[in-house]
Amino acid sequence: MNQPPDASPEPTAWSADARWALAMADAAVVLLDPDATARHENAAARRLVRRLANAVDVPDDPSVSAWPAGEAARELLALVPDGAWDSACVDGRWRGQVSAGNPPLLLEIKLFCDLAASPARRLAVFGDVTARVEREDELQRAQKKLAGTREQLLQAEKMASIGQLAAGVAHEINNPIGYVHSNLGTLQEYTGALFGLIDAYAEAMADGDPASHREALAAAREQLDIDFITGDLPPLLKESREGIERVTRIVRDLKDFSHVERDAPMRPADLQQGLESTLNIVWNDLKYKARIEKHFAPMPPVECHRSEINQVLMNLLINAGQAIDERGTIVLATGAGDGEAWISISDSGCGMPQEVIDRIFDPFFTTKPVGRGTGLGLAICYGIIAKHHGRIEVSSTLGVGSTFRVVLPVAQPGGATATDPPGG
Ligand SMILES: Nc1ncnc2c1ncn2[C@@H]1O[C@H](COP(=O)(O)OP(=O)(O)OP(=O)(O)O)[C@@H](O)[C@H]1O
Ligand SMILES: [Mg+2]
Repeated sequence: MNQPPDASPEPTAWSADARWALAMADAAVVLLDPDATARHENAAARRLVRRLANAVDVPDDPSVSAWPAGEAARELLALVPDGAWDSACVDGRWRGQVSAGNPPLLLEIKLFCDLAASPARRLAVFGDVTARVEREDELQRAQKKLAGTREQLLQAEKMASIGQLAAGVAHEINNPIGYVHSNLGTLQEYTGALFGLIDAYAEAMADGDPASHREALAAAREQLDIDFITGDLPPLLKESREGIERVTRIVRDLKDFSHVERDAPMRPADLQQGLESTLNIVWNDLKYKARIEKHFAPMPPVECHRSEINQVLMNLLINAGQAIDERGTIVLATGAGDGEAWISISDSGCGMPQEVIDRIFDPFFTTKPVGRGTGLGLAICYGIIAKHHGRIEVSSTLGVGSTFRVVLPVAQPGGATATDPPGG
């Protein structure tokens, strides 16, 4: 604001204060007649013309202030393409390209009209926005790149947590596979014994006097342990069947996790079932540490990206498990009301002091040893829940435990629902 005062003649109707203010103004101001011919411009307008012409800043060049009044304004007006005035009159503003080049020169005009005055007054404020627009473009590009990186990070975190869980899941699958395998071995033995008995009966039947084999058959039955087999076989089959069902369930739950649905519309999903399958996936990490209590109240299907919500629940469950040192309790609760549905995960773990609570959603904030935590879990949860227009509420008492409550709107604002059947 230390420019020399404008030396051109001022409109006589102006007060000295107004003239001084205009001369001092940083913005390039042009006063126009109602027919859009320039009547007066300030010093900044003249400097802008020089700068546009020579592409150099010459704020103190005396020749600028020596220009005849209105000349710089005419130069500026000449830069404005046909139609720009009309659009500036309608919108109060116009922004556009006034010269080719790299980058092309971009001018912005803000138009202020007082049509009630006599004669009507118009004031045009010019600005060279080339650099600003370039910065905005750059910002937009950076934002786009950031969004891409966030997406990659999200995917990478998901993959990393799946990798981390793979060992646990493998164990979970191995266990039923192990006993189903052993049961099949036993079943093979039992089948051998049963076939042996069938053979003995067939032999007796082929004989002219089958009744004479009664004792031998009873001895064979005893020797083959048929009574024991009859009792043991049904539970053996039941247990094997349950084992296979458990493996099928784990594989299905895993599939839920690897599902990429970020570009698909959100769909109504059963969050309680999501919580159950997530619990299945992390069960191996929790079962030796925590007793699970469930307090489930009915909840309506919630419009969401199911696998992303599962990822949030997984992070919260793993955190709850990691917060418990030896043995503790994890309480899972669900509920709904006022157009919202919620899931809360409470642990009887170490709890957090206020200074930790304040930072838990910061990316890379962790209190866990190197190699145990990256500090991304909750940051990612936060992003996912914010995207779903929900919130995560946290309460914690040091040494007593923590509760994380995920609250989601049942229906997304603006209606994100797909027309496909739910859960597909
Ligand atoms: N249930 C909890 N009880 C106590 N502290 C918790 C709990 N959940 C999170 N925290 C605290 O918040 C921090 C950040 O959690 P976050 O899940 O973001 O990262 P992390 O668990 O440390 O690492 P990562 O999840 O990336 O493996 C944790 O290091 C821990 O200090
Ligand atoms: Mg974590």
